Amino acid sequence: MTTPGSSRGSSRPWPRVPGIAFGGDYNPEQWPEEVWVDDVARMAEAGVSMVTVGVFSWALLEPAQGNYDFGWLDRVMDLLAAHDIGVDLATATASPPPWFSHRYPESLPVTREGHRMSQGARQAYCPSSTAYRAASTALAGALANRYGTHPALVMWHVNNEYGCHTSECFCDESAVAFRRWLRDRYGDLDGLNEAWGTAFWSQRYYSFDEVIPPRLTPTWGNPTQNLDWKRFCSDELLACFIAERDVLRAITPDLPITTNFMGAFKPVDYFSWAPHEDVISDDHYILGADHMNHIRLSMSADLMRSLGGGNPWILMEQSTSAVNWQPRNLAKAPGQLKRNSLQHVARGADAICFFQWRASRRGAEKFHSAMLPHAGTDTRLWREVTALGADLKNLAEVAGSRVECAVAIVWDWPAWWAVELDSHPSSDVQYLDLMRATYEAFWQLDVTVDFVRPDADLSAYKVVAIPSLYLVSDASAANLTRYVEAGGHLVCNFFSGIVDPDDAVRLGGYPGAFRELLGVRVEEFYPLLEHQTVTLADGGTGRVWTEMLTPAGAEVVTTYVDGPLPGLPAITRHDVGSGVAHYVTTFLDAARTTRLLQVICADAGVVTRGLETGARLDRFEPAGLETIRRQAEGASYLFVINHTDREADVPAAGVELLTGKAADGIVHVAAGGVAVVREAAAATMDG
Ligand code: GAL
Ligand code: ZN
Repeated sequence: MTTPGSSRGSSRPWPRVPGIAFGGDYNPEQWPEEVWVDDVARMAEAGVSMVTVGVFSWALLEPAQGNYDFGWLDRVMDLLAAHDIGVDLATATASPPPWFSHRYPESLPVTREGHRMSQGARQAYCPSSTAYRAASTALAGALANRYGTHPALVMWHVNNEYGCHTSECFCDESAVAFRRWLRDRYGDLDGLNEAWGTAFWSQRYYSFDEVIPPRLTPTWGNPTQNLDWKRFCSDELLACFIAERDVLRAITPDLPITTNFMGAFKPVDYFSWAPHEDVISDDHYILGADHMNHIRLSMSADLMRSLGGGNPWILMEQSTSAVNWQPRNLAKAPGQLKRNSLQHVARGADAICFFQWRASRRGAEKFHSAMLPHAGTDTRLWREVTALGADLKNLAEVAGSRVECAVAIVWDWPAWWAVELDSHPSSDVQYLDLMRATYEAFWQLDVTVDFVRPDADLSAYKVVAIPSLYLVSDASAANLTRYVEAGGHLVCNFFSGIVDPDDAVRLGGYPGAFRELLGVRVEEFYPLLEHQTVTLADGGTGRVWTEMLTPAGAEVVTTYVDGPLPGLPAITRHDVGSGVAHYVTTFLDAARTTRLLQVICADAGVVTRGLETGARLDRFEPAGLETIRRQAEGASYLFVINHTDREADVPAAGVELLTGKAADGIVHVAAGGVAVVREAAAATMDG
């Protein structure tokens, strides 16, 4: 029997590693064994407490089907145990070996166009392949039997980034699985024909055998077929995860099991996956060329915390500096590694890990940065890595504390898939654009948010924002309505509430499911040209979209001055029960979005902090200062992350944990620096 992990305040197990875990992907199989000795010595120097081992080692672990070679892994596990480093052991199933694809060529994935891909990179398997499912679960079982009681083992890492390269496969075996999934969903063909609207374009099916994946078609394929395909592909990958997880769980029932997510990754509905994970883990890479990348990072971290219901989560991968897969791979600036890492901790991560420990010498990722770079330990990167290890030790007491939010943003994968289907009023309506714009406005207001599904319990939130919810069920629409009636403040953007879960339009005027809640009726959409903007009477501007709206109970907040609908309402507000619902009919510019959300927060009693800081930062600048609180029984930790090039003075009283110095009233945060204050008086939640 294995030693149970600690629970960290949740009913789910957590890897038994003290404080904030620190480490990365460790691929010793790429190096001669002499190097391993140096590895563990350096890990001790850096304060590494957990490594992920074996992610891409299937071909070495199983040289021929059913013949395992665990010798090298035994030695790695023993070495790590001797140095007190916990192992997050991978099931190694993300990259089947060449012998596997050679023996089971039908397991190789097929593209929409009908091309079968080859092995030679990684992730070359069809998620529905029975040969793959059998071989991957067999390997997971063999690993669990071999290492289930090993003292180094602290967690299971199933597969790797499900769907990263191969999120869908259009082969015949996948077609069979899709038909099975559709039978489960619809029962019979009548249900499918009705849901898919096959009366349109002569698409009626008379036998399930006629139904195929949405392969290449002469023009737009059936939208509901495409939507169901996305649901199916996410479920099919989840089934791969669950198959391995169940094998592991049967052998090591007390060990936590995870698979690493990829933030806002469209193909996989992480909200439907999250309940199947013991611990949420995520890989986050910043795009060097994106000047908002620190805000994207916060957004992704908030999403991960939210997926896990507020429980601590693991940053499984990030880069110490440059990656290798962008057109131009920018190195991180000095200090950025620390800021990025502590941003994740501030937003609930209790483990900070990297891809990877030692930079590879060979292979497609040899120019990807690592904790231990090609140039060795006499490098600024190594110094930053070891300094981070020390910082995380100083933050050990933060582990297990939680981030409490008064504001939530609705996030829904099926709505994302549906709104981006083709043949819509405007291809400029992109889910993440609206999501990011809303998130960024709250970020500028220094308001930390949770992400929630539309059917979630919203009673804890004072403000709920719906950046985009084209598809919504009756039950979710009723949930959102009840939230407002009970006193909630809701703000909803255009092209929401339009269709039901089958992608069938809700009749009687837009925005369908939200017409009564918002107190408006929209007759027609007036999307804008690509670079066209419209002016609002209050000075704001809009782009992408306008619509012909008649108030039906709502007040007009502001109108259009120009564009296709001069004089007509642009933003409305509707009192409902003891709450209020705002509606925004265009893609508002950033400053106007921030102002609108600030007013809504003020009405709802949510403090928009940050404006009073000594540095007098312009909160509407893209770069800025973020403050986040993590709270525990009787303790409160204020994280201040300064993304500007000026020192900032922030009100805080207590002990700054990174330096151990007292903060009496003010904490000075260096340009590009971070401070974490254990607050003297546990603060109250203020958003
Ligand atoms: C991730 C992957 C790692 C590594 C990394 C490079 O997608 O899980 O194995 O490839 O990217 O940035
Ligand atoms: Zn397939």
